[in-house]
Amino acid sequence: MTENKTDVILGKPLTRLDGPKKVTGQAKYAAEWLPPGVKHAWLIQSTIAKGTIEGIDDADAKKVPGVVAIITHKNAPQLNQKGSAHLEHELLIMQDNKIYHDRQNIGVVVADTIEAARYAASIVRVHYKAETPDSKLSGKTASTLFAPPDSGMRNISTDSHRGDFDAAYAAAPIKLEATYRIAREIHVPMEPHATTAEWSGDTLTIHDATQGISGVQSRLASIFDIPAKNIRCICKFTGGGFGCKGSVWSHVAITALAAKMTGSPVCLAMERRQSFGPVGFRPHNFQTVKLGADKSGKLLAMSNDTIVENCRYDQYVEYAALPTRFLYSCPNVRTTHRLKPLDIGKPTFQRAPGFSTGTASLEVAMDELAYATNTDPLQLRLINYAERDEHEDLPFSNKNLRKCYEIGAQRFGWDKRQAQPRSLKDGPWLIGYGLATATYPGHFSPAQAKAVLKSDGTAQVTSGSQDLGTGTYTAMAQVAADALGLPMESVHFDLGDTDFPAASGSGGSTTAGSVGTAVKYACDAVIDQLVALATADQKSPLQGLSKENITAANSCLIATDGSQKTDRFTEIMQRADRSQLTAMGTSDAGKLHRKYSMYSFGAHFAEVRVHEELGQIRVTRWVGVFDAGKIYNTRTALSQMYGGITMGIGMALLENMIMDPRYARTMNADLAEYHVPVNADVPPMDIVFVEEPDYKANVLGGYGVGELPITGAAAAVSNAIYNATGVRVREMPITLDTLLT
Ligand code: MOS
Repeated sequence: MTENKTDVILGKPLTRLDGPKKVTGQAKYAAEWLPPGVKHAWLIQSTIAKGTIEGIDDADAKKVPGVVAIITHKNAPQLNQKGSAHLEHELLIMQDNKIYHDRQNIGVVVADTIEAARYAASIVRVHYKAETPDSKLSGKTASTLFAPPDSGMRNISTDSHRGDFDAAYAAAPIKLEATYRIAREIHVPMEPHATTAEWSGDTLTIHDATQGISGVQSRLASIFDIPAKNIRCICKFTGGGFGCKGSVWSHVAITALAAKMTGSPVCLAMERRQSFGPVGFRPHNFQTVKLGADKSGKLLAMSNDTIVENCRYDQYVEYAALPTRFLYSCPNVRTTHRLKPLDIGKPTFQRAPGFSTGTASLEVAMDELAYATNTDPLQLRLINYAERDEHEDLPFSNKNLRKCYEIGAQRFGWDKRQAQPRSLKDGPWLIGYGLATATYPGHFSPAQAKAVLKSDGTAQVTSGSQDLGTGTYTAMAQVAADALGLPMESVHFDLGDTDFPAASGSGGSTTAGSVGTAVKYACDAVIDQLVALATADQKSPLQGLSKENITAANSCLIATDGSQKTDRFTEIMQRADRSQLTAMGTSDAGKLHRKYSMYSFGAHFAEVRVHEELGQIRVTRWVGVFDAGKIYNTRTALSQMYGGITMGIGMALLENMIMDPRYARTMNADLAEYHVPVNADVPPMDIVFVEEPDYKANVLGGYGVGELPITGAAAAVSNAIYNATGVRVREMPITLDTLLT
């Protein structure tokens, strides 16, 4: 099997295999696994953001009919603090009386019904000794900020230096300095967090709404101090994650703990309101960007100093300065990240962490530089085009960004852009055009898969991965069908069970490429076994042929030497008296990832209309052109583009998780007040993939595309608003009041 065999099914815009199950309600989500005797849990959350619990009065709650247990720090068992999860205070829940943030999970009521649990939880009276919390972040450097240690991940250090930024910036003919603020955001996936846990002796079965079943298994094993093999985590369907289901949060530990204490299976479904705090959010951040350039716009110096809020008990860094390190060619670059611990919950990854936020500053700064140097924004990006990754000092494995700009500009009609703000009008509407670059790293994560070819000509392929709703089931079946030479109907791909071969969590857009590679290797290995059987079989037309001259297609092995000889899978296996052939496939990052810098790229072109008198902002047109190598399924990938750009519009115009600074409590903890874009906020989108397979990235030639489209999207909106109005708003979301200056 050669790696650039023409793809037959891979790339096709097939509909989701799991679609019918979802629309008919047969797809079971974590809160829908209700084993016999299941009890329901309802969380008790803190109503202060800082202080201690002085007393808990649960006498009335205990009397509510159906209540089985009320668990708080007073009666919760001690968890193992020395395991691999020991660095994550997050999971060491209900171990003391301290309150670190609003809506901290401080207890749980277990009852026969969800109604009883919920009502009882509402009448548990908690007495606090409240202290004054601090949730305020400013863009000013202060002694309370701290530099996180380097993450240890390739390419991610807290600070970076290339050349001599200070000297180059001081000497630059054109200098631009701006601080950009991005509000705290939250994921709000359609399916809120939920967990069902059931113990049998010291083994635990857990159904969790998660982006990583293997992480749930290992973290719970750590805090309960049991071997990982005693825990089976299952997640067949996840109703969206966007990063908030990429970590194991305290409610998962609480559910397992409640099931253990009560001796019954327990199901805990979080209410939307309860999710604004204890299950992560994108942290509020300030980014000070400095660009030094010559008069033609050629960059001489760049810096990004990022200040991010953090909680007080764990650490999450929004690496917003990363794009500044490599996106443009520039000899002198400095970047820093600093954290401010506050009395808030733990922030976490949210769709394209670092890159959505980092492009929301840099790509606006580039627009400002275009105006400062009187250069077209597209031209400015071409002048500063990075031919190689100057941060890592490596060539890009593949980069077609220039093509993205060209195709996008042509389809959008960028040549009709008027540089002068307020020059395009339609009645009371000011019309503006905005451009921004998209980029996301080509991450890779270890994965394993197993392929079983059966004598009836069907195949079963499994991997302990998960499908967040992005289309993993479908894309992996496509990979397997091509590698096995079987039609889609004959391939069954399953995931979401730690009993399957282990795969990493689904984050960082790694699943398609990494799990896909493992699937392909497993299927290739099965075909190799089949080839060995056929070529050694005197009854096979392929007997004696060398492996290189045989390929798999149409459920047959086929000679590629021009002889037209074929042998059906079913017949080869029957003659060999084999009921099935089984093989494993393993993928890891590989050596290529040290020889090349890997990123996907793209270009957004946005049109906005701003009402001259009312300041109302409408996004009216969008062209997005993306370079992510081979696209595995052009239909599900397109959905990712729509979703990512929609979230980018949310960042630019709507999303803002607001805290009352006096109490550090979230004021808009529901979807009525936390605004995400709805259909009426989103224009039709013209999306193009520049499909050039990148076999340096992996054997399938492509990257995952879940995160790429949100990067740059908010900046394109912001730049279009400036072009329409001449008002530069350096904070997101940009609301109409900020335009009416
Ligand atoms: Mo994504 S924020 O890496 O789940």
